[in-house]
Parts: sequence; structure tokens; C-alpha cells
Amino acid sequence: MSYCNRRIVLEEYGEPSRAANLKSESIPLPGNGEILVKTSFAPVNPADINILEGRYGSLPPLPATIGTEGSGQVIATGPDVTDIRKGDQVLYLSRTDCWQDYVSCTAKQVIRLPGELPEEAACMLKINPATAWLLLHQDDGQIPGGWIVQNASNSGVGHAVIAIARKLGIRTVNFVRREELIKPLLEAGGNVVVMDNDEGKNSAMEQIGNAPVELALNAVGGESSLRIMSMLSEGATHITYGAMGKRPLKVPNSMLIFKNLKLRGFWLTKWLRTTEQGEIENVYRTLCQLMLSGSMQQPVDSVYPPENVSSAIKRATENRRSGKVLLDFRTNASE
Ligand SMILES: NC(=O)c1ccc[n+]([C@@H]2O[C@H](COP(=O)([O-])OP(=O)(O)OC[C@H]3O[C@@H](n4cnc5c(N)ncnc54)[C@H](OP(=O)(O)O)[C@@H]3O)[C@@H](O)[C@H]2O)c1
Repeated sequence: MSYCNRRIVLEEYGEPSRAANLKSESIPLPGNGEILVKTSFAPVNPADINILEGRYGSLPPLPATIGTEGSGQVIATGPDVTDIRKGDQVLYLSRTDCWQDYVSCTAKQVIRLPGELPEEAACMLKINPATAWLLLHQDDGQIPGGWIVQNASNSGVGHAVIAIARKLGIRTVNFVRREELIKPLLEAGGNVVVMDNDEGKNSAMEQIGNAPVELALNAVGGESSLRIMSMLSEGATHITYGAMGKRPLKVPNSMLIFKNLKLRGFWLTKWLRTTEQGEIENVYRTLCQLMLSGSMQQPVDSVYPPENVSSAIKRATENRRSGKVLLDFRTNASE
């Protein structure tokens, strides 16, 4: 017996919506020590776009099935597999080929999720919530005691930062580039939400009473990253984890000499590669609880079948989305 597998393949780097193509082929049943997972949903993340363009921290040899994140249900287990059962909902952990109907892998390459977690939420657990969790925790587990500031606050990471910070008792200043996002982000739990410009920064400083800001989370670069940096108190930390604005970070000398700021980066891939499985599972267990309790949500903008991957990618690269674009692999997959 074999399964007909639809997969999104990258053969040549280029314009993202044209670089991804749908292919179908048969795949065999899992072998010794393997499980077969049927993908439910997979989001289109900025990392996927960057990989299609050939501009990412690690690139696969081509041709490659792509997709940095997704989740599904175990539909078959090979001989010798005892820790995962048929019917379990799982998150692909160490896979970067999630945009396909079926993934044959080892039990260690997935994390079992609570069955009650909605499939749409499950597929977005690996990257953005975990990134937000780790950005808010120092290596020694310490969290900021007062205010933090972030840009691109309407992003998947931004929403997760607001939710997790609220749970941890951290107060957030959130910069956005669209006026209409201020109200919804305040309703989502952001303490202060302002436009990403100098007027917005002045308003934010006034609203927090010039209180010390201990951490800045930068996903934009350029002027925006300097704006959030300039709000930091002496000795505070500025972490760059994204570059949506595609502008370099030009740091004034005074920020280092007089303010002694600590500037660093973050890449979830490195954390996943270098962290012990038990610790990784603990983080995802906590994130599942936050999602199940309704404390953390990852908004969805639109859902596309894999056959429309090109439109899905186009939508994911557009401004003014209201959440993530998902690929829905539940339909039309034949055995
Ligand atoms: N380092 C890591 O390990 C790691 C992990 C996760 C994510 N990331 C990075 O974090 C960033 C956010 O990812 P995500 O999945 O959360 O994003 P997302 O949900 O797709 O949202 C993208 C956000 O970026 C904003 N944006 C787009 N272009 C912009 C520009 N030119 N200037 C300012 N803002 C802009 C959008 O603003 P509007 O809402 O106004 O359109 C939106 O809020 C990406 O750069 C991603 O690569 C890094």
C-alpha cells in the first residue's frame, strides 16, 4: 500500500509565488522506527518566503520540499514505535518540509499535542509562540521585571509576546505601522500601543511615565529598531530576531558608550538544534496550555488548499493582513 502525496517543491530560488510548485507522487508506508503523519495545516511564514527567495540562514539543497512549520495526525506507525500512537495530533519539530500531505519521520522529530488543541492553532505553535517565549526569557530563565518594547506588534510573534508577557506580569509597549491596529492590540492585552514614529514614541514615554524599559524586541530594522532602542534604560537588552523592513541596524555610538546597551540576536532554529528534547517539550507544553486556556491566540487571515499555494504565498507577502495565511492539507488527499 502507498499514499499519494501532494508536496510543495522549490526547484530554483526566485520570486516566491512562482518558485513554489505543487507535485504529486506515491510514498511508501513507514519502516522500522518510523511514523507516518498526515498534515492538517501549515502556515506560510516569513521564513518560508525568505527560503523561496534564497535568502535565509540555512537553505536546503534543491530540489526540496519546503515548509518550516505544520502539524498533523499520526496515521500509521512502523514496527518498534511505542511512544506515539495512531490518531495522536503532532507538531513537526525538526522538519523543514512540512508543506506536504504525508511526512514519514521518527517519533523524535515531532511533539505530541493535546487532541483538544484546534488544528489551526496547533500548526502555528512551533515558531512564533516559542520565539516569543524565548525572547522573554534570558538563558538563565530570568524575565524582565518591568516594561518591554516591541515593533511589528501585529505579527504572529508580536501577538504571542503580548499574550505571554501578560501571563508573566510583564508590561508591553507595542509599536505598529497602522492606526487601525491600536484598538485591537489594546483589546488583545497590549498595555500601550502606538504608531511606529517619533510622535508615537513620545506618547509611549508619556504613557509609561518615563519608567525604565528593560528589553526591546526588534523584527523590523532601520529607524524602527533605533526608535525602540532609544527607549531602553541603561544596561538594557535589544534583541533583533526579524528584519521585515529589510533595513540594516545602524547603532549610534552613544547607545553603546553611555547607555551600555546589550545588543544581540535570536534564531529559534539554533535553539531547537542545541537544546535538550526534555526542555523543548517543557516549553511547548506550557505554550499548549496558554493556547488551550484561550490566553494566547494566533489570528488567521485566510486559508488556501495546496493547489492554490501561489495565491497563498502572494497573500502572505501582502501588507495589511489580519493574521497568518494557512495551507489546508485536509482536503482531497487520496490514499
Ligand atoms: N529569529 C527567529 O527565530 C524568528 C522566529 C519567528 C519569526 N521571526 C521573524 O519575525 C518576524 C515576524 O514574523 P511573524 O511570522 O510573526 O510575522 P507575520 O505574522 O507574518 O507578520 C508580519 C508583520 O511584519 C509587519 N511588517 C511587514 N513589513 C514591514 C515593514 N516593511 N516595516 C514594518 N513592519 C512590517 C507587518 O505589519 P502589518 O500588520 O502592518 O502588515 C506584520 O505585523 C519576521 O521577520 C520573521 O522572519 C524570526
